[in-house]
Amino acid sequence: MGSDAKIVLGIESSCDETAVALVASDRTIIAQHIASQEKEHAPYGGVVPEIAARAHAERLAPMLEAVMDDAGMRLADVDAIAATAGPGLIGGVMVGLVSGKALAMAADKPLLAINHLEGHALSPRLADETLAFPYLLLLVSGGHCQILKVEGVGEYRRLATTIDDALGEAFDKTAKILGLGYPGGPAVEKLARGGNPKAVPLPRPLKGSKEPHFSFAGLKSAVMRAAQSGEHSSADIAASFQQAAVDCLIDRLEHALARTDAVPALVVAGGVAANQTVRSALEGLAAKHSMRFVAPPLALCTDNAAMIAWAGCERLPLGDSAPLDLKARPRWPLDPEAESVRGAGVKA
Ligand SMILES: Nc1ncnc2c1ncn2[C@@H]1O[C@H](COP(=O)(O)OP(=O)(O)OP(=O)(O)O)[C@@H](O)[C@H]1O
Ligand SMILES: [Mg+2]
Repeated sequence: MGSDAKIVLGIESSCDETAVALVASDRTIIAQHIASQEKEHAPYGGVVPEIAARAHAERLAPMLEAVMDDAGMRLADVDAIAATAGPGLIGGVMVGLVSGKALAMAADKPLLAINHLEGHALSPRLADETLAFPYLLLLVSGGHCQILKVEGVGEYRRLATTIDDALGEAFDKTAKILGLGYPGGPAVEKLARGGNPKAVPLPRPLKGSKEPHFSFAGLKSAVMRAAQSGEHSSADIAASFQQAAVDCLIDRLEHALARTDAVPALVVAGGVAANQTVRSALEGLAAKHSMRFVAPPLALCTDNAAMIAWAGCERLPLGDSAPLDLKARPRWPLDPEAESVRGAGVKA
């Protein structure tokens, strides 16, 4: 780690992952811990907000201690505290944000209130120091499916969003329909490896539309009908769903690329960016348009605190520390100028 590097402590608690990380501005991940709440939520087939908030409250303090111990550091060695301040499940966000405020006050350090989506949007720059602004970003997660032009830190222009479900949500619902349990994305991907992506005729909602947006609700209903028909194996349904989803992503990105000034890089972030079929299709699209393709390592795709600490490293030089009465935000669009779209995912 460089001697003039700044060190940021990051806290993430917006959904069902409790996470703490120490990251330096020279991109060193000094220490990080992450605890998933999969076991707590699995019996319910999705995240239960009350259970999530309680689990964050129980785990966060010991995790903060463990991360500082791993790094052999004290709070005095840290330059700033970055905490997710939204969007997300409000109880969980409040646990992380209040903890961040307490640490910032006790150690007399600046508090950086981070938009969780900004964490995802900037995460590829943590892994790749050569990734410069601007870039075209496909943000595909459990609550969002957006195409954004990332022009700088805090400068996000939304080109497209979903008018109903997010893609991660569609993966999770497909998993539920196929009896694969929660969380669904990785399970659907695994099952799809043994299936035929052309076996089940499924729709590609909004493919070819003049509108820029995504839609996945009709695809999910078609998966339900295919499963109920009893005519197809689960593997074929999973593979055909994944292919339909990828076709939609590529079509909507082609639409966006045709209507924006050329940018050198196509970047993907968010939980669904962990999917290998999605990654290789995007890689092909980038090559076709002579763009670089950048995808963060898998551990940086799903929720983590290193991306929150990194967003803090990016924001620290801007000097925008948050007041201690700052409120947690259940909704917080990255592009406040973007017109509201019906549905727009569960959290945007
Ligand atoms: N290999 C995979 N293939 C497809 N989907 C995946 C894969 N791994 C994770 N996902 C999906 O990613 C989502 C979780 O991503 P992430 O943690 O970024 O979402 P979130 O934090 O819940 O939502 P948001 O970031 O929008 O607030 C889940 O819907 C999960 O099913
Ligand atoms: Mg997320």
